[in-house]
Amino acid sequence: MAQLNILRYPDPRLQTVARPVTAIDARIGRLVDDMLDTMYAAEGIGLAATQVDVHEQVIVIDVSESRDRPLVLVNPRITWRSEEMAFAEEGCLSVPAVYDQVQRHARVKVQALGRDASPFELEAAELLAVCVQHEIDHLLGKVFVDYLSQLKRSRIRTKLLKREREAQRGA
Ligand code: NI
Repeated sequence: MAQLNILRYPDPRLQTVARPVTAIDARIGRLVDDMLDTMYAAEGIGLAATQVDVHEQVIVIDVSESRDRPLVLVNPRITWRSEEMAFAEEGCLSVPAVYDQVQRHARVKVQALGRDASPFELEAAELLAVCVQHEIDHLLGKVFVDYLSQLKRSRIRTKLLKREREAQRGA
């Protein structure tokens, strides 16, 4: 297993639309292992393949307190969305140290394939619902800051670009 490099906003590669996985083979198995490694090391609760510059529909999630309940979703599709909406504070490993309120469907149903290629359906609420919608957005080339105002987005962009320049100078 290996830790992968996480793309940082506003890297344009984060806008790539991921293609469906055609075969859950050894390569995808390795990708899943590496994504889990990367997510746990970064103390995130979810990671989409897009964020590690692999543009295929793979997501890993773990919203458990104990950090030992990994969830793998390959080719996920939202099949139902509640009319009820909810606001939650979101962050993202690709947008470090930025948190803001995003409104999403309070509950969703998702169909996906697991890492053993068997199909399953998941009904998600609360934090898991937020996380599933956030990660599926990544596969569509969308980052949570896209929901914020243009002003906020441009401030975040400036802040992250500045931080990146400082990090490069320091290196
Ligand atoms: Ni994210």
